[in-house]
Amino acid sequence: MQSFVLKRFSGFKSLSRLRCFSQSAHKEATLHNDVAVPSIPPFDYSPPPYNGPSADEILAKRKDFLSPSVCNYYQKPLLVVDGKMQYLFDDKGRRYLDAFGGIATVSCGHCHPDIVNAIVNQTKRLQHSTVLYLNQAVSDFAEALASKLPGNLKVVFFTNSGTEANELAMMMARLYTGCHDIISLRNAYHGNAAGTMGATAQSIWKFNVIQSGVHHALNPDPYRGIFGADGEKYAKDVENLIEFGTSGQVAAFISEAIQGVGGIVELAPGYLPAVYKSIKKAGGLCIADEVQSGLARTGSFFWGFESQGVVPDIVTMAKGIGNGIPLGAVVTTPEIAEVLTRRSYFNTFGGNPVCTAAGLAVLRVIEKEKLQENAHVVGTYLKDRLIALKDKYEIIGDVRGRGLMLGVELVTDRELKTPAKAETLHVMDHMKDLGVLIGKGGSYGNVFRITPPLCFTKEDADFVVDAMDYAMCKM
Ligand SMILES: Cc1ncc(COP(=O)(O)O)c(C=O)c1O
Repeated sequence: MQSFVLKRFSGFKSLSRLRCFSQSAHKEATLHNDVAVPSIPPFDYSPPPYNGPSADEILAKRKDFLSPSVCNYYQKPLLVVDGKMQYLFDDKGRRYLDAFGGIATVSCGHCHPDIVNAIVNQTKRLQHSTVLYLNQAVSDFAEALASKLPGNLKVVFFTNSGTEANELAMMMARLYTGCHDIISLRNAYHGNAAGTMGATAQSIWKFNVIQSGVHHALNPDPYRGIFGADGEKYAKDVENLIEFGTSGQVAAFISEAIQGVGGIVELAPGYLPAVYKSIKKAGGLCIADEVQSGLARTGSFFWGFESQGVVPDIVTMAKGIGNGIPLGAVVTTPEIAEVLTRRSYFNTFGGNPVCTAAGLAVLRVIEKEKLQENAHVVGTYLKDRLIALKDKYEIIGDVRGRGLMLGVELVTDRELKTPAKAETLHVMDHMKDLGVLIGKGGSYGNVFRITPPLCFTKEDADFVVDAMDYAMCKM
């Protein structure tokens, strides 16, 4: 592996012109160029041989037949053909540590046997009927999911995705309140259909089409926000928006507890309680988008919003809820749920027996394998190690997040917080060559997103940090 890695370094010489480290960071890196080549922790599994088409053939087909908007990570796109727990395997059988988890989606581990069995068993028995008939998989999962939520949040609607869940939540809030205005946060991501694209607030994810009735408040971003970590000051902006940008009455406030696509931005402490109060005063409902931060990922709590001590009126979820099966859900109170009886609300696959059997298996695995505790213990360990790496490399401007939802922001200047975009791509590519897959996000594409399956171990955490260290010291 070493020679392969070294070959990649020589290729970076041309990129070095793009580098704009401060002098001291550069010196740091050269001082530490004796970092050992890290190796992937042992794992007792080999996938069957792969006999399918090559990466180049698939790439060519993708170019011909898939939307040109579909993008690839890495200079040389990776072909993954097998997965087992926190690992992925490419077409040559090479193993990679998956520290991105299919974008915070593979919660329990790739092809977790309990979840695969639940899917296979349900598929063999009945794959689809319709919600017009009874089926126990759907109601068992709804009951189990409701039991994980606080207060009177006990009515569940199943959807196919996070976008659909947020569309439904926003519509319900509008119906319930009779208001149209929704307040969302700058830097949020809530989906890409008509309504949710309005709530999403990063230009890269917004097309110039009608997106009515959403106002975007200042982002309570402790690293880049104008009020630092003072949540209550940002909350005043929501009060102002209600007063000056709406009739004084609103339908809802929607937010993530930790912005995922936006680059793992944890809302400033004290923000949500203050905002929820203002929203209630204006007659609105509070929607917690737990698509990424829910289902035990943040470790200290099962749901991200719990870290701010609030109870939302509507909670939306997807991604990790199905461990990779297309599944989303909206959970709310019986009173709010009632609004959908004014007409018929239905979708063909929402509440499909196979998806909900998978969802129930996910909840059971999280409990049986104590994945929330693991996310807390391993996540805290990983974050501490990343913070130590920040002391070593000036290019690391910020380390943040909770549990196994962590972000590392790269900047070329710590004072100016200038996004280090090219360096982010370079380190990511190099880490892939070393055997670690991580994600990236943030408006400037300069934040590493670390959202692995929750079965991640301390050895895996060490491998991530050692690989990042190695890639950085060689820049
Ligand atoms: C917080 C959040 N909400 C909603 C969505 C949309 O989910 P989906 O891609 O399943 O439609 C995403 C997707 O990344 C997300 O991160």
